[in-house]
Amino acid sequence: MKKCICLLAGDGIGPEVLAQGVAAITAAAHDCELIFEDALIGGAAVDACNNPLPPETVEKCRKADAVYLGAVGGPKWDGLSPDMRPEKGLLGIRKELGLFANLRPAILWPELGGACLLRKETAEKGIDLIVVRELTGDVYFGCPRGEETRYGRRTAFNTMIYDEDEIHRIAHTAFAAARLRRKRVCSVDKSNVLETSRLWREIVTNVHAGYSDVELSHMYVDNAAMQLVRDPSQFDVIVTGNLFGDILSDEAAAITGSLGMLASASMGGSGPGLFEPIHGSAPDIAGTDSANPLATILSGAMLLRMGLDMPDAADRIETAVRKTLADGLRTRDIMEQGKTLASCAAMGQAVVNHIWKTSGQK
Ligand code: IPM
Ligand code: MG
Repeated sequence: MKKCICLLAGDGIGPEVLAQGVAAITAAAHDCELIFEDALIGGAAVDACNNPLPPETVEKCRKADAVYLGAVGGPKWDGLSPDMRPEKGLLGIRKELGLFANLRPAILWPELGGACLLRKETAEKGIDLIVVRELTGDVYFGCPRGEETRYGRRTAFNTMIYDEDEIHRIAHTAFAAARLRRKRVCSVDKSNVLETSRLWREIVTNVHAGYSDVELSHMYVDNAAMQLVRDPSQFDVIVTGNLFGDILSDEAAAITGSLGMLASASMGGSGPGLFEPIHGSAPDIAGTDSANPLATILSGAMLLRMGLDMPDAADRIETAVRKTLADGLRTRDIMEQGKTLASCAAMGQAVVNHIWKTSGQK
């Protein structure tokens, strides 16, 4: 079997962590020939060709079986106009590939319990949830948007907008995801204030009729933000719009205490999915070989499982990550007393060694 993966290394620590991810998926998918193709995105693409998402990149991604991304952005490009910012590249590729569903699992790894920011009693109940964030609609893409002068004052505006089809398909994604887990969906909105949220709640409730084995609850976003720190163990699948999902998925990730561990998948109806760590480009530590590659490596597991339908190879990666942590290896962000400090490359190599061992290679 042959599969083509488009690599978007991007900026900051992106290239360093992606290199480790590529090594891990190559080792884990040893029975399949993986062909990698590099393409430019973000600040790197702005520097090379004055466009955060060059058309060749979109073309290469479309032709691939999966897209694997490091991170985009950095202070170097902060002063650029909105259309030239690295983030525009990321938003653009999501839209171009129709990646409407963003799946962001937040897991408290037992090996890293000490890193959890919550009270011990709360942490002991565990965190194992997934945020299913709508990714191609909402105020992120809604029109009209812009800035103009109104009554002599600079005035800026965006449009929060959802149509029923957009809500329909993300609701299906969430219920289907819940069926593979603990069968509970919490839909998060602001329907006490917003029309978009009222439509959201109605459509999600309608879609739920086809999933009577899954439990559905609704929560206002302000309450959800509070419940996530109060008792995250109550959540299984959280489904929400693009903006609320952006915020809540960072919160869900942060409470585990190890942003450097969390992976994500962005999927469309057909065509390649895009797999990337949740963390950003961390320009302050770029080039120092000290970033945590595990979020990217675990995104590689999602790529193999959801993007290439290779669940066994995905399992090999996840098991190898667990074993590496059990060995006591830690990058700087998750370092604790009594553990062994590892560089980005050393951590990646340790995972690869475990993959080799479990699959009888070397
Ligand atoms: C994310 C990021 C992006 C977003 C930025 C970089 C455009 O925060 O993937 O969550 O807002 O979607
Ligand atoms: Mg975000």
